[in-house]
Amino acid sequence: EKGGYPSFMLKEIAEQPRAVADTLLGRIGPEGTLTLDEIRIPARELREIDKVVIVACGTAFHSGLIAKYAIEHWTRLPCEVELASEFRYRDPILDARSLTVAISQSGETMDTLMALRHAREQGSRVLAICNTNGSTIPRESDAVLYTHAGPEIAVASTKAFLTQLVACYLVALYLAQARGNKDPEGIRSVIRDLAGVPGAIERVLAGMEPVRELARSLADQDTVLFLGRHVGYPVALEGALKLKELAYMHAEGFAAGELKHGPIALVDRGLPVVVVVPSPQGEPLLHGKIVSNIQEIRARGARTVVIAQEGDTEVVPYADHLISVPATPALLQPLVTTVPLQVFACALATARGNEVDQPRNLAKSVTVE
Ligand code: F6R
Repeated sequence: EKGGYPSFMLKEIAEQPRAVADTLLGRIGPEGTLTLDEIRIPARELREIDKVVIVACGTAFHSGLIAKYAIEHWTRLPCEVELASEFRYRDPILDARSLTVAISQSGETMDTLMALRHAREQGSRVLAICNTNGSTIPRESDAVLYTHAGPEIAVASTKAFLTQLVACYLVALYLAQARGNKDPEGIRSVIRDLAGVPGAIERVLAGMEPVRELARSLADQDTVLFLGRHVGYPVALEGALKLKELAYMHAEGFAAGELKHGPIALVDRGLPVVVVVPSPQGEPLLHGKIVSNIQEIRARGARTVVIAQEGDTEVVPYADHLISVPATPALLQPLVTTVPLQVFACALATARGNEVDQPRNLAKSVTVE
């Protein structure tokens, strides 16, 4: 049932090009048009929405954090992202013009379900992004966009995360088209670029041997830090979460701009720091800033693991280990930069003798508080 792989985790990581392609299937047309019939909210109502609120837990929350950048950039709608466990006990300001998006692989996470009910009680419309047909969260939502990752057996989420991201991008682009965007050709071009993502993930997966080797060499470390900016920041959080869950190591993700506000005090000789670098063309300003961050931590002895776009020569002198990913539009980059972090966590966990499919203390679906 593991299809020849030693674990479900490795199988599911390898299935990601397919999972992403399946989630796009039938939803994007050749001319950069989108067909999302599942979003049964009429276009007139979509135009009236004045705020998007995303609620989710864990890895699904990280996909929501990335979605915020895309939604605000493409739709100009304010977007908040909140942990469902916090949102449900707050007094959020929502009404019939709010769109609440609940993201959940299982569709049964108690906190996310309660957050969704909380939003509905304030009159908000609710859209679910979910991987499990007929589960509770979609049943209680006004509309659902299913991710087509297929069953995810390993406790730690991998392919479900990438497909949640794809679904978030689709929602953002759909809202942009329904509400009007000042650069319709730009929107169509991103939609076309999405179609190339499965191939890009395929290429990332084909080059993972050095990442596994690096992971094995770090098996005795106590701590790994992850840094990112813009959409790379939630990717850093996700990389750290995967490492905690699978390798039982101390791992933390930071926004690189926060380094000087505290975390840089942690940097000491030999500390592995993974840095997610934005595209030099897509985000030139941020690219320059992160290159300085890498220099700063390296000057303090960090062992830098740099994930950067192919052809990014500027980072080379400061990278003790360089992991290259194919070029994508800046906002889509998490679809390729997350993959090496999954492989890294999985290989490090295996090197430490851990069971990757069933990490200690964790359950696949958290149906209690
Ligand atoms: C991490 C992981 C969890 C889930 C979280 C939400 O690898 O799997 O953090 O993402 O428990 O679960 P769902 O998406 O089922 O609501």
